[in-house]
Amino acid sequence: MLNPFGHQLRQETIAALTIMFAAAKTQIGVTLVAESGYRSYDNQTSAYHSYVDTLGVEGADQTSARPGYSEHQTGLAIDILDTISGCGTDGDCLGNTATGRWLANNAHTYGFLLRYQADKTSITGYEYEPWHFRFIGTLLAGHLHDVGIDTLEEFFNLPPAPTYTN
Ligand code: DAL
Ligand code: ZN
Repeated sequence: MLNPFGHQLRQETIAALTIMFAAAKTQIGVTLVAESGYRSYDNQTSAYHSYVDTLGVEGADQTSARPGYSEHQTGLAIDILDTISGCGTDGDCLGNTATGRWLANNAHTYGFLLRYQADKTSITGYEYEPWHFRFIGTLLAGHLHDVGIDTLEEFFNLPPAPTYTN
């Protein structure tokens, strides 16, 4: 699996990801790509500041967590692309492809949640990210799917991120 961060993910995340990647290949013939997984504090600092450079603080906060606040720092989050669509980790592109639709519809089977959905931006606090998935286990992912709850914020009654004090 391609991952510029050296395949660093928690063991349970990589195990589930491997199964999901194989299923995508079998079911829709798509090769998924693990684009960005675990990020250290320093990695997230660089990512956040590159968004600030182009979008300003307000814009950056809609699309990138500040260092210390990203799911990527837990080893449970993964940005997934594919080898065929040409989509990147920006905009709606991936969400309009067979890959994005398959991931959105099937990720729960493998224990993943599409964290930042298009119609939930005011609830999550982040723009639509059709590539960003968080491993939450098959039990919770299946339950959320079955009861029709789309976000962890709604399930755990959490405020939207980010809620920075500075
Ligand atoms: N892009 C997501 C919100 C992150 O930076 O963790
Ligand atoms: Zn992400």
